[in-house]
Amino acid sequence: MALSPAPAGTVSRFVNQARLAQRLADMARIGATAKGGVNRQALSVEDGQARALLTGWAVARGFDVATDGIGNLFVRRAGSNPDAAPVMTGSHLDSQPTGGRYDGVYGVLAGFEVLEALEDAGITTRHPVEVVAWTNEEGSRFQPYCMGSALFAGKMDLEMVLACTDPKGISVRDALAETLALAPPMPSRPFGTPAAAYVEAHIEQGPRLEAEGLTIGVVQGIQGSRWFQVEVTGQEAHAGTTPHGARKDAFQTALRMVTALNDLMHDPDDIIRCTFGRFEVLPGSPNTVPGKVIFTIDFRHPDAGVVKEKGDAIAPLLHSLAAPCTVMVKETSTTAPVDFDPLVVEAVRDAAGLLGLSHRDMPSGANHDAKFMAPRCPTGMIFIPCKDGISHNEVEYASPEHCHAGAAVLAETLVRLAV
Ligand code: GLV
Ligand code: MN
Ligand code: MN
Repeated sequence: MALSPAPAGTVSRFVNQARLAQRLADMARIGATAKGGVNRQALSVEDGQARALLTGWAVARGFDVATDGIGNLFVRRAGSNPDAAPVMTGSHLDSQPTGGRYDGVYGVLAGFEVLEALEDAGITTRHPVEVVAWTNEEGSRFQPYCMGSALFAGKMDLEMVLACTDPKGISVRDALAETLALAPPMPSRPFGTPAAAYVEAHIEQGPRLEAEGLTIGVVQGIQGSRWFQVEVTGQEAHAGTTPHGARKDAFQTALRMVTALNDLMHDPDDIIRCTFGRFEVLPGSPNTVPGKVIFTIDFRHPDAGVVKEKGDAIAPLLHSLAAPCTVMVKETSTTAPVDFDPLVVEAVRDAAGLLGLSHRDMPSGANHDAKFMAPRCPTGMIFIPCKDGISHNEVEYASPEHCHAGAAVLAETLVRLAV
């Protein structure tokens, strides 16, 4: 790897803590909730407003903006070699329905801060440096999650993704058109353009760094995950008159399924993660036997063998428990565990060391767009602590000092990769 024309340690001195904190606060106003978090779900009006705000900042600083067929938003600072592929960084602007002010948006704004720091420092890189805000990382409104990065990486089919609907029946196609109309028009580019490297900064979303009093997580990879949507169909009936033996109660069947899944996923070592995050009982009336239940399963493990074996057991188990109802099991997302590129991991570790920041190597329990970039180009991630390890929660918090530290490490890492 070549040496930077600017000595190591230069660009990070231009990373501005107050400016980054202000941009995070400005973004947090979009979709702000009463409890201090954000509701900026993918392809909502709020998502469109966040894209417009970022685009405005980018244009004001003279950076190029572009989008693609799923609305990924790219902000590019040109490099000296027009033929060099960009070194990319970024994350997502969408949030959980009761999300925090840092999950995703921190990585986008830390990346944008690096572009500004490069500009302020007058550093020329050979490769362009590009910040991307990927569409629908969270997957809370539309499944599959990470649809922007997965389409970019050639891992999904655009027509399949555009046809996906949210619980209200609104398609990605329609929501995307409405969201994009809120940001200024910009050039569109194809999926899969080459990338020289990808580095994503993110809050840890877990308790480890804080508990150990450390500032930087040097992320080694991401565990595998499989998501399922389960639809149990029974028969609506009168709650006062229908004998239990004659019922097709979708809720009682779903309850048996959840109990059996908990047994399947029982792990004395507490490494398996299994979550039933959505559970809808229909028609939702106190005196009607439920005729339908829709629930989701989010299952994760770092070992590819466990991901396959336990994941493959889910559908047969649910079918064996369905009577007297029927069940439909749809796998909405599947990702194998990934290991990040040793050169990028080393660049992150070296940057933390250069800046005198305490750090440790660690895996990621959460999914990130970096998972889809990893097979395409050398990829890595940088974690910073979040308070009490809490994320996917309106109280999510990361201090301005830690946000600054992560952006400084990102800056040094990107410059090293982009020279
Ligand atoms: C992303 O937020 C995930 O589900 O890990
Ligand atoms: Mn995230
Ligand atoms: Mn998230």
